[in-house]
Amino acid sequence: MKTYVTTAIPYVNGAPHLGHAEDYLLADIAARYMRMHGDEVKFQVGTDEHGNKIEKKAAELGLDVKKYVDENSAKFKEFIKKLGVEYTDFIRTTDESHEALVQKIWQKLAPHIYKSDYEGFYCEGCERFVTDTEYKENNGICPDHQKPYEHLKESNYYFKVSDFKSEIKEKIEKDELKIIPEFRKNEILKLLADTPDVSISRPKAHLKWGVEVPDDDEQVMYVWMDALSNYITVLGFPDKDISDFWPATVQIVGKDILRFHAILWPAMLLGLGLPLPKTLLCHGFILANGQKMSKSIGNVVDPIEVLEKHGLDAFRYYFSRHIDTFADSDFTWEKYESAYNNELANDYGNLVQRLSNLCNKNSVDRAFLEKRKVLEDGKFKNTWDSDDAEYKIYMDNFEFSKGIEYAWEKIQAINKRIEDTKPWSVAKENPDEAKILLASLVGDLLNANEMLKPFLPAAEKVDKIFTSKEITPPKEPLFPKEFKK
Ligand code: MSP
Repeated sequence: MKTYVTTAIPYVNGAPHLGHAEDYLLADIAARYMRMHGDEVKFQVGTDEHGNKIEKKAAELGLDVKKYVDENSAKFKEFIKKLGVEYTDFIRTTDESHEALVQKIWQKLAPHIYKSDYEGFYCEGCERFVTDTEYKENNGICPDHQKPYEHLKESNYYFKVSDFKSEIKEKIEKDELKIIPEFRKNEILKLLADTPDVSISRPKAHLKWGVEVPDDDEQVMYVWMDALSNYITVLGFPDKDISDFWPATVQIVGKDILRFHAILWPAMLLGLGLPLPKTLLCHGFILANGQKMSKSIGNVVDPIEVLEKHGLDAFRYYFSRHIDTFADSDFTWEKYESAYNNELANDYGNLVQRLSNLCNKNSVDRAFLEKRKVLEDGKFKNTWDSDDAEYKIYMDNFEFSKGIEYAWEKIQAINKRIEDTKPWSVAKENPDEAKILLASLVGDLLNANEMLKPFLPAAEKVDKIFTSKEITPPKEPLFPKEFKK
């Protein structure tokens, strides 16, 4: 099957912070899981490089905007690589090809575009026009960015979201555009009912750093119009037929930007005559001391420092298991250390060391594992569909923190089985019986290990250890107490 996974493209008004990891990791887990099922996966990542926020920040630093976005986009690219994310396409909204395609998209949407005056408020942090009701509810201050809304009076182009509201409502209600988790669906339906037409351009007097509006040299496009289009310009729309990969299988976004993806984006797609994505997966925030981690607030944790502390597996483990897929979760160094030492190193790392050691000592090798039908042609075949249907349900529903939790319980159960059965004692009395017991334990471990593969690159190493001709314990523990680079 051909599948398409997308991630939100972050603004490049700074370097990546820990919160940005969430989109990439969720998408990468989904993509790896899909590939394990034989899917051909298209996986887009990229950077959102236009808008006031970026223009202003570059000016503050006295830098040329293009140079500034080039530098920061490169930082994101490097970060994504360091996270072990196996994407297929990296798009920048300043790519010439993207800009040209966005202009064509604008022209295709022309029947739903009209010009009018805007007077109201804007949040530069969100790059969003704010309704009067919201302004009042939040006492004039954006709760996400802790900054006062800006008052704007300008002439803009509007997109007639009203042309598509009833169709979007129906698709969301029927789960044809499935919003996960379910409780977000109702939030969006409520919001949709109150959504006015959306302003989709800004006069150059207020914003220069954007894609030019076709046939109007006084206006540039509103950054969200430009940014949302990335999901299809990366496939070549409208110049190319994109039906191989569109509609997207899953689009991953944070809760602050679900509204754009569940209202403006579907309206644009319907205006273009394209189908809507199958799923919008909406994750929560990573918090620092109970508050959203954000560049604008200035409470960010440097993800490179976290990555370098105990390596990639520790990072991915913590994020998959201890950052809830859908709810907000705090990051603290204390919890991070404890997850690494008490869970990853103790439960998993020690198990691999111990079991490979026992196999080595008791001549349990690939030939024996094949004889015991643990391996077939040197490979382990997973049994998710039958034995571990629960894991499969979690993963198919993108409930990744539950998926890894399930796998971890299996790991802990194997540790307990070793403690209970004491293969080293059995070996003294009856070596053949010990070998059979060890082969069965290896089967259990390889099974749990398969479930860990979408999450932890180390699972591939573990697979190699137990499917090699001879089982040799790793010379260095997989997760040493002090991580060496
Ligand atoms: N540029 C827009 C997205 C355009 S998509 C067509 C944007 N950029 S962002 O840099 O503010 O956020 C990028 C992604 O990171 C979003 O999904 C956002 O929710 C996520 N996160 C930013 N801070 C976050 C946390 N502290 N925690 C988890 N994710 C958060 O919005």
